[in-house]
Amino acid sequence: MRKIAVLNQKGGVGKTTTVVNTAAALAGMGLKVVVIDLDPQAHLTIHLGLEPQAIRASSYEVLTKEARFEEEIMLVRPNLWLLPANINLVGAESELVSVVGRETILREAIEPVEDQFDYLVIDCPPSLGLLTLNALAAADEVLIPLQPHFLALQGFGKLLQTVELVNKRINPRLKVQGILLCMFDTRASLPSEVRADIEHFLESARGTNCAWAQAQILPTFIRRNIKLAEAPSYGQTIFEYERNCHGAEDYTKVAESIHSQGQTTPQIDRQADDTKAAEEQDMQTAEQIQEEPVVESAQDKDIATEADATQEPAAGVEHDQDKPPIEIKAIPQPDAQAPSPELTQTTPPDPEQNQP
Ligand SMILES: Nc1ncnc2c1ncn2[C@@H]1O[C@H](COP(=O)(O)OP(=O)(O)OP(=O)(O)O)[C@@H](O)[C@H]1O
Ligand SMILES: [Mg+2]
Repeated sequence: MRKIAVLNQKGGVGKTTTVVNTAAALAGMGLKVVVIDLDPQAHLTIHLGLEPQAIRASSYEVLTKEARFEEEIMLVRPNLWLLPANINLVGAESELVSVVGRETILREAIEPVEDQFDYLVIDCPPSLGLLTLNALAAADEVLIPLQPHFLALQGFGKLLQTVELVNKRINPRLKVQGILLCMFDTRASLPSEVRADIEHFLESARGTNCAWAQAQILPTFIRRNIKLAEAPSYGQTIFEYERNCHGAEDYTKVAESIHSQGQTTPQIDRQADDTKAAEEQDMQTAEQIQEEPVVESAQDKDIATEADATQEPAAGVEHDQDKPPIEIKAIPQPDAQAPSPELTQTTPPDPEQNQP
């Protein structure tokens, strides 16, 4: 089973839309897919047509061990299962604060279904708190949806830093596999500039052992498409709502791209033997990470995102000599001797060029 966490602590970048429609496309290809709603907003649950208040057990009950994952997942479409969320999940972060091994509860919960599905896709909340840590501990791959606008990359360094930390301390298999450009406006020049900035940054990590050394911008981007924005209010995937639209076309290509990536590249270490050694290490490191205030709570996220451009690397994040620095603000630009001050400021929006 491939396990993908769809993550960006920025809100409204297209995470849930990506989870719903990529999962639906994979299911439509005949693959067995289970999706997890880890966001207290329950947008994934609603988007798939369920009423969060009417749910018997949700990801909250699984995280608090009042329910078992394999018993609570619901078949919501052919080949597509959902572990829903509801507002109870808001309390999970604080309720689990004193639980030993709280970052790995989800990983342990999904173990019984490891052989039953082809894909597990997790919709993360827009924060880097405990819910997201659980997603990262359970996943092998991270897919980062990103809206290529001015300031899109602010907070990106913090996001990668969190993935790197989890990779090092809790889940050595975790890799940033892909970056998906969402709500892409082909008429504006800025998206292409943001894309070039990201590509340049990713290139600087090639050949290192950091968690995003193999990350690629997916060859398909998601165009801005009104049908994608309308489908959630009908509780439908884009394939049910309007099969012949750019959104359906783009997400079909994304699913094909993700699936072919898994078929052709041995980037994910799925060797069961390694898992055991990793888990033994986890027992020790999960305790350490709880003591190190590196990953901010949901409440801190806004402050952290704003402060991201200036803050020092978080305590506990060591930089190996063969790894690039995570702070993207200091990426040398090809045409400049000195590092640019802040990546997001190297591509200021040109109001004229952004006109339709
Ligand atoms: N390609 C697109 N074109 C137009 N609208 C889109 C597109 N992708 C997503 N949207 C809309 O943008 C809004 C935000 O998308 P979405 O809910 O997927 O983001 P999110 O990252 O999951 O947000 P949150 O962080 O709040 O969970 C939604 O109203 C969605 O319908
Ligand atoms: Mg969402």
